[in-house]
Amino acid sequence: MTFLRTVESYRQGARTLPGRYYTAPEVFAEEQERIFRHQWICVGRDASLAVPGDYVVAEVAGESIIVLRDQSGERRAYYNVCRHRGTRLCEAPKGRLSETIQCPYHAWTYALDGRLIGAPHMNEVEGFDKKAYPLHSVALYEWQGFLFVNHDTGAIPAGQWFAPLKDRFANYNLPLLKTVRRIEYDVRANWKLILQNYNECLHCPTIHPELSTKLPYTSGANDLIDGPFLGGYMEIKAPNESATMTGRACALPLGTLPAADQRRAFYYALFPTMMLSLHPDYGVFYTVWPVSATASRVVCEWMVHPDAPAAAGYNIQDAEEFWDRTNRQDWHICEQSQLGISSRVYAPGPYSPRESIPAAWDRTYLRAFEGA
Ligand code: FES
Ligand SMILES: [Fe+2]
Repeated sequence: MTFLRTVESYRQGARTLPGRYYTAPEVFAEEQERIFRHQWICVGRDASLAVPGDYVVAEVAGESIIVLRDQSGERRAYYNVCRHRGTRLCEAPKGRLSETIQCPYHAWTYALDGRLIGAPHMNEVEGFDKKAYPLHSVALYEWQGFLFVNHDTGAIPAGQWFAPLKDRFANYNLPLLKTVRRIEYDVRANWKLILQNYNECLHCPTIHPELSTKLPYTSGANDLIDGPFLGGYMEIKAPNESATMTGRACALPLGTLPAADQRRAFYYALFPTMMLSLHPDYGVFYTVWPVSATASRVVCEWMVHPDAPAAAGYNIQDAEEFWDRTNRQDWHICEQSQLGISSRVYAPGPYSPRESIPAAWDRTYLRAFEGA
């Protein structure tokens, strides 16, 4: 990976956000309107839609969205709302449709490209034209094998939005990687605490003693230090080869990596709710789903090179256990943080230089929240 060493972005005087940002239902509701309705939100991997008809349902900005692969192989996203009397079309969180989507109420039927193709007895209605009732669509974009949706028709075009990441992960074969493990976690903490926690390793010696033996928290540097994409790398401490329980590589390399990157782990947060961790032999990505002001769901997937599972020495369990344990340590401290922040004596506290990335994340968040 091309890595430009840059000066850290610490700004004197940076403080954490006021308590209401983590506790107030009104702020949570405003975030749906001001942030989640306007941003590119990761809803998972393109590969989860393996064949035409495969779909997943995602809840974004309080709306249920169907993301599917149509008959021509194109990915599409629609509001999960029938054009007849509004009923939800898909009830299950994922599945495989036949060649159509049929509303379970009065059987209005849509092609997977969104056209209304069947509407019982509507031919008896004067002037009714099926063409006037396609499914309401939502913008969809694939970036490196990840699917993103955006409700806002006037949003910044995705190509422009993702431009700062262009070619950054070229050696890691992201579009090809295969998800081999998936865990969902319910966390009793505001979604922002999870992002902020991911963005610093000041807590690593206290919260993750095992991780710290493999990834020293003072190693590495950040290279994306302002804006919607933030993060950098840490050094994998020799003789460890990866961030696994045993310290050994657990799978084939993700790609042809330069020597330096063979001993590095990269951690990036993509505003607002995606986190991407890349190790020489496997990747992990997280999507954070805000549930309420004080609760979130985190979906975590482990990805490897598509040839890795059949190759000698494959042991993804080694990486899964490493991060499952680390994740649970993180969620626990985020929950403790949520509880403390809920106190009437909580007030914004000072960030240290080792927390320059959470401070930068807060700036991005406030720009999105207040600028909308
Ligand atoms: S509400 Fe969907 S067919 Fe009537
Ligand atoms: Fe952590």
